[in-house]
Amino acid sequence: MKHSWSLVLATLPCLALALPSPESQIIKRDSTLIPKSCFDSTSSLTEYFNYNYPWGDTHNGAAIMSSSNAVINTAGTLTLEAVYTGASDYAYDSGTVYAKQHFTVAESGGLDFTADFIAPVAKGTWPAFWLNGVNSWPPEVDIAEWKGTGDISFNTFNTSSAVEALNVNYPNPTEFHTVLAELRDENGSDVKVNFYLDGTLITTQYAKGLVGQPLELIIDLQMEGSSGSPGPTGSMFAFSPLV
Ligand SMILES: *[C@@H]1O[C@H](CO)[C@@H](O)[C@H](O)[C@H]1NC(C)=O
Ligand SMILES: *[C@@H]1O[C@H](CO)[C@@H](O)[C@H](O)[C@H]1NC(C)=O
Repeated sequence: MKHSWSLVLATLPCLALALPSPESQIIKRDSTLIPKSCFDSTSSLTEYFNYNYPWGDTHNGAAIMSSSNAVINTAGTLTLEAVYTGASDYAYDSGTVYAKQHFTVAESGGLDFTADFIAPVAKGTWPAFWLNGVNSWPPEVDIAEWKGTGDISFNTFNTSSAVEALNVNYPNPTEFHTVLAELRDENGSDVKVNFYLDGTLITTQYAKGLVGQPLELIIDLQMEGSSGSPGPTGSMFAFSPLV
């Protein structure tokens, strides 16, 4: 019997909108960069996303990523499934996707990233919806990260050690929750990030020098690493993908 944990991402997958400049006389219309239909089928998924990480199939944890663990079981829903294999190098198989396009907060501009998630919070499960610098690390903005404690985390990295991080209680993890990050040019150099959970503003953080920096959008279900170890190997734990 296979034991598995899943990160389910559904409806409202990830929209990125261009923000009209308040000073602008000509109002630029918001534009959707990734449509809600992106998880309707495997072909719509692969139109907008690649499998695994931009740099490969592993990252700071115990899972090795494979396209067969990032699946559309139900139209409109992406499921990332982690399976314990006990392999000596990577003890889990799991799934990750990243957006084919890069995202840049332009001067006087902004981007919105939003998605609905069912995210596991057991020790050793480490799902995340995050932005990573294309040209360097950091920048990193964790729109949502769950590090195996029962909390959800919102983080912004200026450098590897200058990190603003907030952990807050994450209620009812077996139900869908909506996360939204609004990124806005603050002063031509720094980016202000408003983090929302289920429509409530939770915190505001600032990313130094992020204006004009291209970002990768990653959705992954890593295991162990920052979420602690040992991760789960025992009982079956599964989410019903949708009502
Ligand atoms: C933007 O604001 C931050 C702090 O609010 C400041 O440190 C930085 O120098 C400012 N940058 C510019 C280009 O004004
Ligand atoms: C990151 O840089 C921004 C802008 O300069 C600043 O407001 C923020 O406090 C910095 N965060 C940390 C953790 O140093």
